[in-house]
Amino acid sequence: MNISAELQKKINASGQGHLLKYWDTLTETEQKEFAAQLEAVDFTVLPGLISEYVLNRPKTEIPADLGPAPFFPAIPRNDGEKQLYAQAEARGKSLLEAGRVCCLTVAGGQGTRLGFDGPKGTYPIGPVTGRSLFAYFAQNIKRCGEKYGKKLTWYIMTSKLNNQATVAFFRDNAFFGLDEEQVFFFIQGTMPAIGYDGKLLMAAPGSLSLSPDGHGGTLLALRKSGALDRMRQEGTDIISYFQVDNPLVHVADPLFIGMHDLEKADMSAVMLAKTGPFEKLGNFCVSNNRLQIIEYSDLPEELATKRNSDGTLAFLAGSPAIHLIKREFVEALTARSNLKLPWHRADKKIPFINEKGEQCSPAEPNGVKLESFIFDALPLAEKTMVMEFDRKEVFAPTKNPTGVDSVESCRQMLVERDAARLEKAGVKIPRNADGTVNALIEISPLAVLDEEDACALAAQKEITVAPGSQTVLEQ
Ligand code: UTP
Repeated sequence: MNISAELQKKINASGQGHLLKYWDTLTETEQKEFAAQLEAVDFTVLPGLISEYVLNRPKTEIPADLGPAPFFPAIPRNDGEKQLYAQAEARGKSLLEAGRVCCLTVAGGQGTRLGFDGPKGTYPIGPVTGRSLFAYFAQNIKRCGEKYGKKLTWYIMTSKLNNQATVAFFRDNAFFGLDEEQVFFFIQGTMPAIGYDGKLLMAAPGSLSLSPDGHGGTLLALRKSGALDRMRQEGTDIISYFQVDNPLVHVADPLFIGMHDLEKADMSAVMLAKTGPFEKLGNFCVSNNRLQIIEYSDLPEELATKRNSDGTLAFLAGSPAIHLIKREFVEALTARSNLKLPWHRADKKIPFINEKGEQCSPAEPNGVKLESFIFDALPLAEKTMVMEFDRKEVFAPTKNPTGVDSVESCRQMLVERDAARLEKAGVKIPRNADGTVNALIEISPLAVLDEEDACALAAQKEITVAPGSQTVLEQ
């Protein structure tokens, strides 16, 4: 078959004529598939993107008026705030009871740092049972639905690369006790990888080298997949957004949800107090009255180290990538599928075929992958809200096998969190001299969603945790 003259013209005009070098050697099916891939690329904007992000390195401009973002502290500071927090929590619970909230997990990443063979959500993170990351979220969502008397729909964003394996994992595990219809998988978009010479890289003679377009791709993918329509039909207007590698997250936190609603925010964010000036978390900042996140690598040292008169960091607020997003905000942003988020450049080793058609796996980075980030939607929101949470309660990222933000540290935090909940419920927890828990404890989220549930469980049955033991508490 011949490639359409119009497509060929666009490809040549954008300086990407090399893509058609093998066209005549492809079978008709391959040609059809390749043509579909090429049609999906916007060749008119490509030269601009390549010039801005590949041939040049974009520098993040730091606005002159950049200041730290205001936030609601984890602990209310006075009676007025106490009242407000109680009101917010009650509001959040009633929104959950009314079915106005859904969950959204972004699970389309490639998890290169973890180096695990399979979608990251299938990783066996449970400290004793090896419960998977997906199981943690699913069981929390199930328990949340039971607690508030209304099932939550769970939207899971996958990528072309891991969608099939993700769906199969849910089927093999009977959706972890959720109704199959409660779970809505949708696939994010892709971006072509670009070599340092500005030419799109090819993975095979009839295929571009494509990679997921970043978690910012969530917004358009929600629209294109019909997820927004389903939310509207179900009367859901608050999306509880979290990442697939954080099993400690509150899948739908009543206080956070209630404050988001009371504040009439388009998009809200959880913040954590950074452990130090250079902790690798995005920084919540404001400029021109708009909330924005400046990546740790972009915050100038004098701002990162700046201190308030009481010695605390001026730019204290770090982002664990936990958000609430108003459905109407996503609808407005993606109207006419015309969302413009900035791109972020990542230099990568990208396998490709060379001019002779041979497969090559470079030892050094040879090109650029472009991703957009969800937090770049924050400055587009008229109204935002940031709320501090205790890190031990909400954030245990599983990025690496060992060390910082790793499987090891995540398991340790899960154990500490579950132990703390049991302790608050009156259970004696064996501890080492340094205060760490001297046992491996794992509580099923089906039994315990929060401290209230932990107290109910401890009241129901005798719980003993022996020193050095492995203790699993199921329903
Ligand atoms: P990370 O930035 O940690 O990337 O993603 P990653 O792919 O999981 O891991 P590395 O960097 O390759 O080691 C943060 C969250 O955003 C999701 C990930 O699945 C994770 O939940 N994500 C990332 C997507 O859903 N799509 C993307 O294109 C990128």
